[in-house]
Amino acid sequence: EKRAKQAMLEAHELVSKLYHYVLTETPYGVEAMKYLTKRGMSRQTLTEYQIGFAPDSWDFVTQFLKKRSFSQDLMVEAGLLAKSEAGKVFDRFRGRVMFPIHDSQGHVIGFGGRLLDNTGPRSSQPKYLNSPESLLFNKSATLFNLHRARSTMRKRKQALLFEGYVDVVSAWQAGFMQGVATLGTALTEQQARILRRNVESVVLCYDGDAAGQEATSKAIHVLQQAGLIVRVAPLPQGVDPDDYIRQHGAEAFSQQVLLQAMPVTAFRLKHLRSQYVINDETDKTRLIAKAVEIINELDSPVERDLYQRQLAEEYSLTLGDLKWESKRAYKQQ
Ligand code: CTP
Ligand code: MN
Ligand code: MN
Ligand code: MN
Ligand code: MN
Repeated sequence: EKRAKQAMLEAHELVSKLYHYVLTETPYGVEAMKYLTKRGMSRQTLTEYQIGFAPDSWDFVTQFLKKRSFSQDLMVEAGLLAKSEAGKVFDRFRGRVMFPIHDSQGHVIGFGGRLLDNTGPRSSQPKYLNSPESLLFNKSATLFNLHRARSTMRKRKQALLFEGYVDVVSAWQAGFMQGVATLGTALTEQQARILRRNVESVVLCYDGDAAGQEATSKAIHVLQQAGLIVRVAPLPQGVDPDDYIRQHGAEAFSQQVLLQAMPVTAFRLKHLRSQYVINDETDKTRLIAKAVEIINELDSPVERDLYQRQLAEEYSLTLGDLKWESKRAYKQQ
């Protein structure tokens, strides 16, 4: 098993270099290079992240690994190659921009591959294809970019958590180097514990869409369970961190997004308001009851008081009535 793992590591290292070479030095990479440049990625970023391109071929990597005498079955297991039902081995990643994924020591253990163009004849394929779980690659215990982000994270006592690889890379290029991302899956307890070993607080920077909001609600819970202080960065509707940085720049991202990150209760109250359509007093009463529940979950009486005052003001209630409502809800639990 140890030797198999060693061979898998070696193959990943070689193939990540190969993909990077294809992107930056060969005609096969020209189109992908144009695409990445148009997306604002600098040459330095491409080098730092060893971003690459998997050519649109069935046997480019297959032949490369064969020449170097790697076992084909092992390479299929590692997820660099795939095997058809008929037993034919072929390249798993074809026509994709490749983001190498590293373990905490900086070894390449997998890839995330993005389609160059997900609108054309390829639109039936998933936009992102990731390496499968293997001896090497345990998705639920890995965070993209951790090995680069760790020192800044520790210095700042804070991590930024993103949804996508591109968001992490874009933020890094703009000078925010403490960013990591999950690997196309929901945040796990293990990942939260890894963060907790390095920082005290996490700013969630998920996409400004419904999926991002839902994922944020779930991540808050997992992060708090691990003992982390959580804040939620507000992104405009339909915009993700990479879009935002490209549209408004690093300074705005810092001032308008990261520094505006909300405490969890403020986020939950905002989320609640966005889910309710208020037509009459009944709707309004129900919304207030839900808001009271959220505020009641706070342990600190001072914090509860602050949010109760805000809520009272927002809905023109007397603070006394709201406190009475809050006590009643608390007793009913
Ligand atoms: N993802 C995935 N499989 C998909 C779509 C997404 O694994 N079919 C994961 C990837 O890790 C991706 C993240 O979810 O980085 C966020 O997805 P999305 O917001 O759709 O992608 P972006 O990172 O915004 O990618 P891009 O800007 O290149 O479209
Ligand atoms: Mn290079
Ligand atoms: Mn998204
Ligand atoms: Mn996105
Ligand atoms: Mn994006």
